Amino acid sequence: MQKIKIGLLGFGTVGSGVWKILQENKKIIGKNCGYEVEVSKILVQDMTKKRDGIEQKDIFTDNPKDILEDPAIEIVIEVMGGIEPAREYILKAIENRKHIVTANKALIATHGDQLIHAAKKAQVELCYEASVAGGIPIIHAIKESLSANRIYNIMGILNGTTNYILSKMTAENMDFETALKEAQGKGYAEADPTSDVEGHDAVYKLTILARLAFGSYVHFEDVYREGITKITPIDIEYAKELGYVIKLLAIAKEEEGKIALRVHPTFVPQQHPLAAVGDAFNAVFVKGNAVGDLMFYGRGAGDLPTGSAVLGDLINIIKKKDLQKRLYENGFDQNSKRVIRMEE
Ligand code: NDP
Ligand code: HSE
Repeated sequence: MQKIKIGLLGFGTVGSGVWKILQENKKIIGKNCGYEVEVSKILVQDMTKKRDGIEQKDIFTDNPKDILEDPAIEIVIEVMGGIEPAREYILKAIENRKHIVTANKALIATHGDQLIHAAKKAQVELCYEASVAGGIPIIHAIKESLSANRIYNIMGILNGTTNYILSKMTAENMDFETALKEAQGKGYAEADPTSDVEGHDAVYKLTILARLAFGSYVHFEDVYREGITKITPIDIEYAKELGYVIKLLAIAKEEEGKIALRVHPTFVPQQHPLAAVGDAFNAVFVKGNAVGDLMFYGRGAGDLPTGSAVLGDLINIIKKKDLQKRLYENGFDQNSKRVIRMEE
């Protein structure tokens, strides 16, 4: 089987999840994309850190040029997080005609336009399924499967860490700090968990979904935001007594040409399907004018669920790339315009 070389920027929770899936599902991935995926290099910050499950120690580098400027690497997976230098590295990779897969919601929500524009100009793919709701294929659903609908409403739990904390505070009377530590230990939280508990992470995700669903430019700073840091055990008790559970909801509604976007803790009736969403699971309701109501549910954070979304994007890029190559070989250029042959 032919090989395709990729580079990883980052080897934390998500990067190591991507690696594990590439090893465990090697055959199925090869069968589904037609290539053997080979990780050429992995960029990390700390070269002295012990990395479990990797024999090949020379695969790690702390020099981004080893990936961004290696002509043999066709696809770059950015799973390092943060805005800079992730943005700079992605732009460099795009300039060098590499396709990009990223899980970085903060970057897509704040600089997505710039990156999408650069990728279009360079005729490379930029995919970010893992940036919203971990393993749930919500971006593909909104962008592709529901593209014949006018979408009015998106509502759900988009942050795994806060859902984990609130679920533990509700079911086990666990205190906030202990629950947050557990969520960090499981790899659910962002490098700076303030982004999770203050609602920024859910705002980034809602911004990305709203742009795709409503086709309008949504600025993340226009989203109303309230996190869960002010929720006390007394609030949780009151909610229980009144027949509710507290969930951090992200809501986007389109009404009469206007869009309302908010992230805040909400009293959810105990019988509502969202009330049963525990651990770091996410759930998203989408309402379209043709399809009606849909609910998506699954693991919203963690190494393997997020790795699954990242590699789904990778396989799609390889399949598209191959299709373009075949079209070209059959006499069509990359934009599917007919190539005029010399003899015609
Ligand atoms: P981690 O903090 O676990 O891992 C980050 C990795 O990137 C580490 O390997 C780190 O190196 C490396 N890194 C960070 N900064 C640099 C730098 N400047 N130069 C070189 N290497 C660098 O993050 P996660 O895996 O949790 O998250 C990665 C991305 O995925 C983020 O954008 C996050 O928002 C997103 N995401 C995370 C999910 C999750 O469940 N954790 C789910 C969905 C999306 P070193 O190992 O040496 O420290
Ligand atoms: N920190 C994020 C969360 C990771 O807890 O949902 C998944 O995007």
